[in-house]
Amino acid sequence: MKILVTGGLGFIGSHTVVELQNEGFEVVIIDDLSNSSMDVLEGITAITGVKPHFEQLDLKDRSKVEDFFATHKDIAGIIHFAASKAVGESVQNPLKYYENNINTLVYILKELGKLQQQNFIFSSSCTVYGQADELPITENAPVKPAESPYGNTKQIGEEIIRDTCKVNPELKGIALRYFNPIGAHPTAEIGELPKGVPQNLVPFITQTAMGLREQLSVFGDDYPTEDGTCVRDYIHVVDLAKAHVVALQRLLQGKNKSNYEVFNLGTGKGSSVLEAIQSFEKVSGQQLNYKIADRRAGDVIAAYADTDKANDVLGWRTELTLDDAMASAWKWEQKIRRK
Ligand code: WQD
Repeated sequence: MKILVTGGLGFIGSHTVVELQNEGFEVVIIDDLSNSSMDVLEGITAITGVKPHFEQLDLKDRSKVEDFFATHKDIAGIIHFAASKAVGESVQNPLKYYENNINTLVYILKELGKLQQQNFIFSSSCTVYGQADELPITENAPVKPAESPYGNTKQIGEEIIRDTCKVNPELKGIALRYFNPIGAHPTAEIGELPKGVPQNLVPFITQTAMGLREQLSVFGDDYPTEDGTCVRDYIHVVDLAKAHVVALQRLLQGKNKSNYEVFNLGTGKGSSVLEAIQSFEKVSGQQLNYKIADRRAGDVIAAYADTDKANDVLGWRTELTLDDAMASAWKWEQKIRRK
């Protein structure tokens, strides 16, 4: 069965392509290479021994999207990762985010509506919850006004899919709300490749340990948490990738309870920034050079998932730990810096 993965050379996309191939799916990747490289395609092939079909395509070009689908009418499902995802950049350049994350979704859904099989998995984010009133966070937690245009594009994206599923019973959609994806494939053939100065915690940790960054700044230790630093649900990217395959199979096998479903994907465990640092130091055997700095605007105090629905309805649960993820991130950082 042929599955289209947009953004399939990205961080989560590439790991999902590996898991799809492990399950015997034929994978077609579309990526515009704006935030990835052809090395990732080599990495996927090195892991599975099967080179996915790849087409470099800018999904903002509607006619090119139409041409692509005209030659791939046998697509059985789409996993849609392609989007810009830097929170800070989205604040500075909102129209780039609305054009790249929303227009492209509309074009893809229009083409999907013409296919025999209309199965759609959407890459969403726990960022839609903002600072949730109750922890752990369930899928019924209210979606709050977005703190950034990036977060808003995820909220709007979910609403577009929900509304389209309402009027098209043939279309089956699942939105997967990720908590904090971290780590890399255990083979160190693929992993996270942040461009420029990493905004996210774990790549900043590994680059600091590698000597690429002088020192990690911990953004605030005066939060109302156990050790004063923010709490997040750090999920290993391989566990996250496997969840996409389970969600896709749910739709292919008609196990969905309605034609639009939402699942939180996390470990269910919250870890503070200092606990994440301690985990890294333990698995790497290295002291990390960090200091306590001012809070970062827009950070929520704490967010971690209630995993009951993912475990009991979707039938998926995480198997890997924070230490596993940190060890894989460190192995990956060492691998890419050796080149
Ligand atoms: C985690 C914690 C920081 C860097 C964002 C997006 C979310 C998703 C994942 C795309 C926070 C602290 C970080 C640093 C630090 N992105 N930190 N020093 O902000 O929870 O989520 O990335 O889908 O949508 O919102 O992740 O890794 O940036 O931060 O102290 O140099 O680490 O304050 O508490 P975040 P993060």
